[in-house]
Amino acid sequence: MHTRYFTLLGALSSFVVLAQQPLAIPPLLEQDTFMLNVGPHTHQFYPGVTTPTLGVNGEFLGPTLLFNHGDTARLRVQNDMSEITTMHWHGMHVSGDQDGGPQRIIEPGEYWDAKYKVVNPAGTYWYHPHPHMMTASQVTRGVAGMIIVRDDLESALDLPRTYGVDDIPVVIQDRRFLANGNMVVTAYGDSLLVNGTPRPFVDLPAQVVRLRLLNGSNSRVYRIGLQGDSTFHMIAGDGGMLNATVPLQRLSLSNGERAEILLDLSGMEGDSLLLMSFGSELSETVPGSANILWETSALNGIDFPVLRIRVQAPTSEPVTTLPTSLVSVTPIPETQATRTRVKTITGNGMVSMGMFLINGQEFNMDVVNDTVALGSTEIWTFVNNSNMAHPMHIHGVSFYVIDRNGVPVAPEEAGAKDVVLVERSETVRTIMRFDHPTNGYPYMYHCHNLMHEDHMMMLQFNVTDMTTSIPEAGISTKVHVFPNPTTASVRYEAPFAVESVRVMDLMGRVLQRIPGTGSTAGIIDMGSLPAGLYTLTLEGNDASARVRVVRE
Ligand code: C2O
Ligand code: CU
Ligand code: CU
Repeated sequence: MHTRYFTLLGALSSFVVLAQQPLAIPPLLEQDTFMLNVGPHTHQFYPGVTTPTLGVNGEFLGPTLLFNHGDTARLRVQNDMSEITTMHWHGMHVSGDQDGGPQRIIEPGEYWDAKYKVVNPAGTYWYHPHPHMMTASQVTRGVAGMIIVRDDLESALDLPRTYGVDDIPVVIQDRRFLANGNMVVTAYGDSLLVNGTPRPFVDLPAQVVRLRLLNGSNSRVYRIGLQGDSTFHMIAGDGGMLNATVPLQRLSLSNGERAEILLDLSGMEGDSLLLMSFGSELSETVPGSANILWETSALNGIDFPVLRIRVQAPTSEPVTTLPTSLVSVTPIPETQATRTRVKTITGNGMVSMGMFLINGQEFNMDVVNDTVALGSTEIWTFVNNSNMAHPMHIHGVSFYVIDRNGVPVAPEEAGAKDVVLVERSETVRTIMRFDHPTNGYPYMYHCHNLMHEDHMMMLQFNVTDMTTSIPEAGISTKVHVFPNPTTASVRYEAPFAVESVRVMDLMGRVLQRIPGTGSTAGIIDMGSLPAGLYTLTLEGNDASARVRVVRE
């Protein structure tokens, strides 16, 4: 193993081969207003070699933000770089205007104030920039950080949660360094960094410890396990805790995915163990495998250490038992879905690039690709007809993975998620409820291979309140219209006899005035109208109601 490690570092010919480095632990911030300064820095990853970096309040990467469920998070993001940026709260359920997508630009020298209620369950989330075509560049150089959410349910469990002692952030990234120290913005790196530390070791107490794993790499997928195939225990995925502890020997972690795992180090004082990535086990269509048709990297297709753990004396109040049941998580039943959208991935390309399309389309900031009704539940089916696996991510929600090629997912994937790796030739069905509006700033859905994302493998959608009827004349019941969105006609159902219907645009201009049926239901043809958002006003003799309809 050591020999292998030295060979890898040999790729950085001018660098001194490193002794093991103590794992950097990003500072934990808990503030009324989180101050995040994104700016240029330098950092010595290797002694004597200065690397230009970007960082958040520091040289490389950013602080870990601690949120409490139910609180309001206030964050000021100051852009001290000479390029534009945005800041996205990956996995957090926030409205579109607070989500930090590509439209939410922060100009150099400016700041952006984000504010949202923390409604996510306890779990591990993260933040990173999302500027159009510049995400990989800024993330590579160091703009990213972890978010920890706590809540009462998780706090009631006997789990390790002393940050930096028995609860450890593990941000896994591979980077390629040039001899002059510069990092290259590319799919694969030859150097494995954890929290920015090459060849990291961490001293952990001889008791149950928690690792919060985040794949913050551009393209590489990790196959996590322990040397010697010892068992570890997964307790949480992307979107919070699982129902029960899942014992595992391997866990695939694709880009943007998180997993909280417990290791039982009881009685192991003085011992050491290696958290590994078993890259030799990745299927050839997964980035990080030894597929020679793709870009090569010293780490591709091999097993390599991620983090060396040196076991020390236990703390004074150790967690000594592994929990079995955790919280109660119920996936949304399929019967609640009112619509299925199929997202077909096509294209043959490289890991670092290529024209991968979603439903034949590429990202266009001016085109909103889908409109979803606020509060609705939908199934999104990803069909991968391209030549490789893609980690697909959806903003604004957590989803449940229903099945892969019809086979229900394994327990480690059964919790709430926001990234799912969709393998070549695979059909993956996900289900989610859209609880937050986009408020004029569409959400993204995209491949989280940052090279693909920046090469337009990203589309956007609005979540719009379409079900609220605005009661007038004392009527407070709802009007239903469907399908909504529509491509042609809609059927309405009102709690009163409808005498006439007006179709208005957002400016309030009446475009059509249609006689009602005199009964509570009818059909309106909107086929001749251009795509957009309309208001229908249904009028009866002593009641009226309005409802929004999207013409697709
Ligand atoms: Cu990690 Cu579009 O985000
Ligand atoms: Cu995201
Ligand atoms: Cu991709």
